[in-house]
Amino acid sequence: MHVVLWTTMKPSHVLMLIMITELVSIIPQVTPSASDCVCDLTNTEQPFPHNKLQTVENRASKCTKIITPQQSVELESLLLGLDRRLPQLEADLAVLEKEDDGDLYGTVSLQVIEHERAEIQQLINKLNSTTLSYQRLNRDTTQEVKELKDEMGALERFDTMQVVREKEVNKRLRRDLDQCQKGPPPTVPPPEPASGNCPHGHLQNVTGPNTYSATEYGASYPYGSWGRDPKPAAGKESWFWMVPLTSSNVFSNFVRLYSSLSSLVVGVSIPGNIIIHSSNPTTNTIQGPNVVMYEDALYYNCYNRDAVCCFNITTKTVTSVAMPKGTGFNSKFNFCHLEACYGYTDLDLATDESGVWVIYSTSDNLGNLILSEVIPGLPPKLGRTWNTSAHKRAVTNTFMACGVLYATRYLTKEREEIFYSFDTVTGRERYDVGIELKKMSTNIQSLNYSPVDHMLYAYSDSMIVSYKVHFV
Ligand SMILES: *[C@@H]1O[C@H](CO)[C@@H](O)[C@H](O)[C@H]1NC(C)=O
Ligand SMILES: *[C@@H]1O[C@H](CO)[C@@H](O)[C@H](O)[C@H]1NC(C)=O
Ligand SMILES: *[C@@H]1O[C@H](CO)[C@@H](O)[C@H](O)[C@H]1NC(C)=O
Ligand SMILES: *[C@@H]1O[C@H](CO)[C@@H](O)[C@H](O)[C@H]1NC(C)=O
Repeated sequence: MHVVLWTTMKPSHVLMLIMITELVSIIPQVTPSASDCVCDLTNTEQPFPHNKLQTVENRASKCTKIITPQQSVELESLLLGLDRRLPQLEADLAVLEKEDDGDLYGTVSLQVIEHERAEIQQLINKLNSTTLSYQRLNRDTTQEVKELKDEMGALERFDTMQVVREKEVNKRLRRDLDQCQKGPPPTVPPPEPASGNCPHGHLQNVTGPNTYSATEYGASYPYGSWGRDPKPAAGKESWFWMVPLTSSNVFSNFVRLYSSLSSLVVGVSIPGNIIIHSSNPTTNTIQGPNVVMYEDALYYNCYNRDAVCCFNITTKTVTSVAMPKGTGFNSKFNFCHLEACYGYTDLDLATDESGVWVIYSTSDNLGNLILSEVIPGLPPKLGRTWNTSAHKRAVTNTFMACGVLYATRYLTKEREEIFYSFDTVTGRERYDVGIELKKMSTNIQSLNYSPVDHMLYAYSDSMIVSYKVHFV
């Protein structure tokens, strides 16, 4: 008897028959007797290569995976950084040319610019190596796509048997291939308003000053900070805090608490100073002005360390969390404008609706801003981290609102501008925020947002100033 297989057989049947033939072939051959019925299978087609199809699928999906959106964001942010730094350098050079009268100031500025130029060179080198690795990736991908296409062509010949009938599988494969061929997604869409993660929308404007006052220390301490605890202890809902840097404009060893804004303005502190240590400075006391209070604890840059300290007001004990390796401290990556840097502003602590944050920089990230969550606890920990393309030395201060990082720059003695934002939800950066702050004094040493009353609290040349933040 001679059976010819139908060519429209399902792949599973083909497989089964192949298995049967194999099975038959290993059964010891017995000479057929006259009553035996011998079944001689002849397949006019080759068996369908399922393994091959599986391999092609795997390769296609691997190909899709190696080009991640993360990589294209990285390239985008490098370009954006360069795009911003070059005009900055040009503007700085123009200022220098105007003021170059050969005196010390000119020399200092020249050093700043030389530094900036060197860093831009580093940025270009990084971009170059990124681009090279992209070209490599592209080459590899092209080759991969070509091979996959050939494989697919070979597999399609089996369509005479209609074994590749499962349309979904085919479609999925085609989609994978398409994605793979297109390579990295095209450039990031044009900037949209920063949204973050907030019910009250994105930051639209800042008005004020609302409060503008001297403190009980008069003009003694130009560096410091003040504000409100967004998560105060029960009974302390209307309290304010202040930390003047009482030693060398760099160090402090206490936080001063006030039961209301008017108490602060008239200089009456009922609880008085809450002392971290009797010496100033010493291990675990405060270094730098950008400190915040959260959940009845003070968060700040620990003295002489690349670490965030947390001083518990109730227990009067300090816990700390080390910053990532390479984090600048002791005035390595400060907030600056062309004429000056603000000393010991390496770590900027911030609060918003979601908690505590630290803004800093590392050599690895070429001195650009890095944002990390600070997760309260015993000890506190660092949470998620984001790299940005904004250069820390081109920024005068930062604050967080609704999960969006904002940075300011110096415009004139009278005006400061919120020019930059980084949205932690979308990863999008903007350099065109364009919201101006009216200053009462030249410098802002610290700036922080309070989610309780939607106010910005600034410490400006020993004066306390507040602004109202408007959202849409
Ligand atoms: C980019 O890198 C390649 C290889 O290291 C080098 O040959 C080339 O000169 C670099 N280009 C620039 C503009 O730095
Ligand atoms: C922001 O507030 C200032 C001061 O009140 C006002 O002049 C300006 O028009 C406002 N801008 C926007 C975009 O609302
Ligand atoms: C401060 O200490 C108190 C008492 O041990 C504790 O309940 C509270 O959680 C601590 N606060 C922080 C922010 O660690
Ligand atoms: C930030 O950039 C550094 C240096 O390029 C890199 O090592 C690190 O993984 C990046 N971190 C994140 C969260 O992307």
